[in-house]
Amino acid sequence: MSADREISVRVTGLVKRFHDHVVLDGVDLEVPRGSSLALIGPSACGKTVLLKCLLGLYHADGGSIEIDGQDVTRLSRADQDEMMKRIGVLFQQNALFDSMPIWENICFRLLSEKQLTRRAAKDRAVELLAQVGMGPEVADLFPADLSGGMQKRVGLARAIAGNPEILILDDPTAGLDPILAHAIDRLVDNLVAQNQVTAIAITGEMNNIRDRYRRVALLHDQKIQWQGRTTEIDDSHHAALMQMVEGEAEGPIQMLVEA
Ligand SMILES: Nc1ncnc2c1ncn2[C@@H]1O[C@H](COP(=O)(O)OP(=O)(O)OP(=O)(O)O)[C@@H](O)[C@H]1O
Ligand SMILES: [Mg+2]
Repeated sequence: MSADREISVRVTGLVKRFHDHVVLDGVDLEVPRGSSLALIGPSACGKTVLLKCLLGLYHADGGSIEIDGQDVTRLSRADQDEMMKRIGVLFQQNALFDSMPIWENICFRLLSEKQLTRRAAKDRAVELLAQVGMGPEVADLFPADLSGGMQKRVGLARAIAGNPEILILDDPTAGLDPILAHAIDRLVDNLVAQNQVTAIAITGEMNNIRDRYRRVALLHDQKIQWQGRTTEIDDSHHAALMQMVEGEAEGPIQMLVEA
């Protein structure tokens, strides 16, 4: 197997701007297949924008995004839909459908592609709910009936419902208590270890980042400033990376909050 085929996601020179606001300007990122990457960086640095570019939800203004060697910025609509079937997504705001019960939300894609009957979909949703630590009684509730942390877990159950090869998670453990956050991390880690899933997760939770992810990439000032294995963080002597991981107020990353 060539070295190239070991890379699941490769972003090269990605540029994204909204009118004259340049958010990403030359982002380079590589994620090996079957690895887990924590994408970190200060608020509003463009982490969610980068994930939305990967998903084809935002059109890139320059550069390329290859998933398994295919440049997704140049795919036809139909090929992009095919690609999306291989990717499970958890959005930062969960993006659940308010008018659908939880089980339909979880199996939404499987149902719309007629991969499962409604009865089988409900059984599958109950299984997935158990994986994210919730009982079958949740299946018939609606998003508005759930707490924020429960909604997040339903979003994760939906992301993994189709056994994706790539998982893209925008802040999967935000708002969860530490025990639940740990359980969710373990679930993602098991998918990575056992099913060779490639996981890319934005996270603001720096506690134990070295145990929770194999790789880390720091986005700041429109570029990836550092990427590598989490085991290499301490030896990097990279001031901005250390500041972010340690949560220090002082350092190259300026916080725009007045005391
Ligand atoms: N659709 C859009 N139109 C205009 N500007 C946008 C759009 N989406 C994002 N932005 C801008 O891009 C910048 C980066 O936003 P993004 O949501 O990627 O931040 P983030 O790094 O995910 O932050 P957080 O950690 O707070 O979630 C922000 O200044 C935001 O206002
Ligand atoms: Mg975000």
